[in-house]
Amino acid sequence: MSQQILLKKAEKEDWTRILQLYSSLDEVDLEYRFFNLHRVSADEAKIIAGRPDHFALLALQGESAIGEATLQGNGEVSVVVQKQSRGMGVARLLVTELIDIARSKGFKKLRFFTLPSNSKMVGLGRAFGFRVLSHSSMEEEWILDL
Ligand SMILES: CC(C)(COP(=O)(O)OP(=O)(O)OC[C@H]1O[C@@H](n2cnc3c(N)ncnc32)[C@H](O)[C@@H]1OP(=O)(O)O)[C@@H](O)C(=O)NCCC(=O)NCCS
Repeated sequence: MSQQILLKKAEKEDWTRILQLYSSLDEVDLEYRFFNLHRVSADEAKIIAGRPDHFALLALQGESAIGEATLQGNGEVSVVVQKQSRGMGVARLLVTELIDIARSKGFKKLRFFTLPSNSKMVGLGRAFGFRVLSHSSMEEEWILDL
């Protein structure tokens, strides 16, 4: 990767970068991220950037957010990386940092939900030691004991 990647906690003023990242997603990505074709609005990008009850981490390359990972108060994590930056370890960087943050905040477990067909997210979860807690044809829940 040519330009350095920086991780930073999302703050209110980052909402336009977050909107740009989510606007770049295609229908398959949206299905994987939201389980439907939901398009993130400006108001939702502002919520991702500044909601007090969750922690959003951005991977920045230059001025752009190329990835985002969220830790919710209930220990649920989600992650997204823009298409042209995938397969280079950006999600791995984000999740590594998010796990450290979760530990420092006293979380005992992390979880994520995924479509079983999302081989990239399943591979990512497995690489961090997550295990399947429940499984249906529509959704899998993966869990990690910290
Ligand atoms: C899932 C997603 C975040 C992965 O981002 P990424 O930056 O490409 O992932 P990384 O390059 O960090 O890969 C991390 C690990 O994931 C796994 N992985 C990545 N690509 C994979 C693939 N094609 N098949 C299987 N495992 C894969 C591997 O274990 C990989 O580790 P390795 O590179 O050492 O083998 C990205 O594909 C994405 O944004 N998808 C759309 C949104 C989404 O599905 N979000 C998850 C729902 S919560």
